[in-house]
Amino acid sequence: MMYYLLYWGVKSGKFKESDLIDILVRARQHNVRSSITGALIYCQGTFIQLLGGPELEVRRLFDSISRDERLAALDVVSQGNISQRHFDSWAMKYGEIDQETIAKLEDYPISDVSKYLKNAPAIRLLSLMGRLGIPNADDAGKPIEP
Ligand SMILES: Cc1cc2nc3c(=O)[nH]c(=O)nc-3n(C[C@H](O)[C@H](O)[C@H](O)COP(=O)(O)O)c2cc1C
Repeated sequence: MMYYLLYWGVKSGKFKESDLIDILVRARQHNVRSSITGALIYCQGTFIQLLGGPELEVRRLFDSISRDERLAALDVVSQGNISQRHFDSWAMKYGEIDQETIAKLEDYPISDVSKYLKNAPAIRLLSLMGRLGIPNADDAGKPIEP
């Protein structure tokens, strides 16, 4: 049995776009060791991240992320046991996306993307992640082609 945790977060004043590379390099090293997989989406200051793996490791990592000063706020959208991992092929898939692309994918006009992602139910976020051709962490920084 695996554990998953999906959360929403928003950057703080301490976050620089260049931090994304450091986060992904660190995630790749740490997550492989802790057998954590998942996906991270960055959209104009808002993060959506799915973590999957052994429950203790997932909770430990989420604890660290909660204390990360580069985030001003974060909240768990959904968590629980799961029989099979999502995104099991890589330590942390990553993609950057903008409001326009999300609006197009969701077929819905979005005026405040941060609010939209914050209020979206887990199933919508997972479906959104699933429909993005999220590249590997090697491609960090490249925009997602839906
Ligand atoms: C949005 C975001 C996502 C992150 N994702 C991960 C991750 O998947 N794996 C990881 O090891 N660190 C990740 N980090 C970094 C952690 O917050 C933290 O800096 C790192 O785990 C070191 O924590 P420690 O000093 O408590 O050991 C992320 C940070 C942010 C802001």
